Amino acid sequence: MKVAILSLLIFFNTFSVYEERFVDGNGVTYSLHHLHVGDYKKGYIELLGQLTECGQINFSKFCLFRYGLNPQHIVLVIENCDQGKIIATGTVLIEPKLIHSGRLVGHIEDIVTDESVRGHGFGKNIVLKLAQYAKVAGCYKVILDCKAENVPFYEKCGFTVKGSEMEIRF
Ligand SMILES: CC(C)(COP(=O)(O)OP(=O)(O)OC[C@H]1O[C@@H](n2cnc3c(N)ncnc32)[C@H](O)[C@@H]1OP(=O)(O)O)[C@@H](O)C(=O)NCCC(=O)NCCS
Repeated sequence: MKVAILSLLIFFNTFSVYEERFVDGNGVTYSLHHLHVGDYKKGYIELLGQLTECGQINFSKFCLFRYGLNPQHIVLVIENCDQGKIIATGTVLIEPKLIHSGRLVGHIEDIVTDESVRGHGFGKNIVLKLAQYAKVAGCYKVILDCKAENVPFYEKCGFTVKGSEMEIRF
């Protein structure tokens, strides 16, 4: 019974996700979609590894993460369908607030494009989609933290510098 339920979950998570396809000038087909379990074998963790250290993420851990996502935690990816490889990703988290009349704020996280295809607009495509998602969800703003070297990229995506980034690292 448990196996049947898990199989159904995998089926629906693998096949019934949002997807948008597009083709570049060289005829290569890309798929922009919500992260699904099939992306594990298409280099998703390796891609994240270009952003920061990921540690050991096996398939079970990946599935737990994927099935744990809620509608306020959106992970988008772009896949090069010809290569079966995930080449860009980004996340938006929707935070309910009590201030501003209980409205929502979007937080963009973990934007990365595979180093072999940087400068081709994939990062911007993901960021604009995530920002649009936040807008449609009812957020009054979308914010992010980044290194100084990435400020020009986010400015190209329509962001403006506001305040300073701070942290306590545990
Ligand atoms: C930052 C990053 C995501 C950009 O992705 P990308 O797919 O190469 O970016 P795009 O091709 O969509 O660039 C969009 C625009 O920003 C510009 N741009 C991209 N990176 C830039 C940079 N570092 N400095 C200045 N401009 C930059 C591009 O030239 C392009 O300009 P255009 O619209 O006038 O043509 C990518 O370099 C990356 O993955 N870096 C390593 C991980 C990282 O630092 N992520 C950000 C975490 S906050």
